[in-house]
Parts: sequence; C-alpha cells; structure tokens
Amino acid sequence: MANILVVGDGAIGLLFSHFLAKHHAIYILTRKGTVNTRFYSHSNAASEKINATFISQEQLSQTPEFDIVLFTVKAFAVQQAYAQVKPYLGNNTHIILSHNGMGNVEQLNEQLTKQQSLYFLTTSIAGFKSNPNIVQHTGNGQSVLGGCNQLAIQNIQQLSEQLHTIPQLIVSNNIEQLRFEKLLVNIAINPLTALYNIKNGQLRAPQFNSSIINLLTEACHIATALKLNIKLIDALERAYKVMSLTAENYSSMHQDVLHNRQTEIMAICGYISEQGKLHHIATPYNDALLAKILAKKSAE
Ligand code: PAF
Repeated sequence: MANILVVGDGAIGLLFSHFLAKHHAIYILTRKGTVNTRFYSHSNAASEKINATFISQEQLSQTPEFDIVLFTVKAFAVQQAYAQVKPYLGNNTHIILSHNGMGNVEQLNEQLTKQQSLYFLTTSIAGFKSNPNIVQHTGNGQSVLGGCNQLAIQNIQQLSEQLHTIPQLIVSNNIEQLRFEKLLVNIAINPLTALYNIKNGQLRAPQFNSSIINLLTEACHIATALKLNIKLIDALERAYKVMSLTAENYSSMHQDVLHNRQTEIMAICGYISEQGKLHHIATPYNDALLAKILAKKSAE
C-alpha cells in the first residue's frame, strides 16, 4: 500500500482517487478546507463514499511521506501547485501530471532531483461534478501512463502495477505522441463546445466540419514541425470518435466557461499559436478561436 497525494479535487482528481483508494491510502489536497466527504456516482448504482482524507495546504506538514503525487489540476495551475507541494516531497517520490493540453513537463523536470521520476497520465475517463461533493462518472476509456524522464522510463512498469486499479490503464513508451493526439481531440472539441454552448456530440453537425478540419490541419503542421508522426485523417477520426463516445457530455471547457472559471485554452489553441510563431507556421484558425475564448471569459 502506498501513500498517494492527489492534488486537486476536480472531476478527474476525484475519479482517480476513487479507483486508487481500493489499494492505497489517498490524501486529496484541496483549497476548500477539510470537508471530508465526497461521493462517487456511476449510472444508476448507489453513490459510494470516496475513501480518502481531504487535507489543506497547512496540513501537508502533518502527513506521512508520499510515495506518489498525482497532479490533476489544470495545466495553468501546475507550477503553483508544484511549488506548494515541493517541500513535502520525498527523495524518491514518483510525480505524475494529468491535464489537458501541453506544457509543464520541461519546467518540472528542471526542478526535480535526480531520484525523482516524472510521468504523464492521459485519460479518456469522463466525469463531472454535479455538485461540489459528488463526481458523476459518465464515460469509460483508456488511461495511458508514460515516463517523462530517464528514471521514470526505468520505473514505469513498477508504477503502473501500483496504479492498476485505474480502469484500462496501459503504459506507453511514446507519451509525447499520445499527448499531442489528445491535444488534437481537445482542439476539435473543447473550444467549439464552449463557444456555441453545445454538447460534444452536437459538434458532428455539418456546420462545424470546416472549422474542425481547419483547426486540426494547422495543428498537424505543428506536429510535423515537432517531428511527430500524426496524420490529419487519423486526427479527424479520433476526434469524431470521441464526439460520439461522449455525445451526451459537456466538455471540460464548456463547464469552465459556464461556471466562469479560467479555461485551458492557453495550453490547447494557445500552444498551437505559440508553436506556430516559433516555427514560422501560420495558425489563423487557432489564433482566432483562442481570442474568442479569452474574450468570452473576460466578457462575463
Ligand atoms: O476536456 C474534456 O472534456 C475531455 O478531454 C474530452 C475528451 C474533450 C471529452 O469531453
């Protein structure tokens, strides 16, 4: 049994906590003080209490050393969350990031000691919080764990065995490629669902086809510049498949805009725009969507 700190009590943090608590001692770092009860709910089954201890920043010093720290906060919040947790990390702590969009891996690797391994966990598990204390598990899918530094690549089998209660967990030796593939799904779905206030499945309507193709075409040019092997046709196929699998769901960005929270747009379309500038590749569709989502947020 390992001591695992889950940083963030959003939908994904609570879903992972629920599954990991079957074998491990779970601590969830939350800004909401010490409300100690959260529930996991799936379809019509009875809700289950998530077997975890909720702690605040001030209580970190009183907890046992963590074997694994899983950051489930949004891309823009990772650096600050890491700075808060850093003094409490053990010499051999496994650090895992799990968020939509790109960024963070290089910056974090620079701050770790030689004994600390860094991993990325992408997931297609879907859920949302129907109120601050209940997470609804609405979709199943693969979760993929990959090593982001040398030590992590060596230790990955052992870590994945510890995390085996996460449904459909597999290991990849090319996590950068997978992150980019997930980025393409998020580019196709998240900003447009937020902008037009629609469910993921509604994006399959013909009126959105050309926007989706243009956005993904630009992103594939960036993938080629980064020497990743991603074809537009495969990116489109994956995006439309996720739209069908999650047809009745609202994307995370839709929910962020609805609740007037900061979105992940900078790590999604913003990443494509930024890479476009670095590689001298025009990205007008991603630039425009980035501006629209930023404007939508600040207009409300
Ligand atoms: O961010 C999300 O909502 C999810 O990553 C996805 C895959 C787009 C499904 O809604």
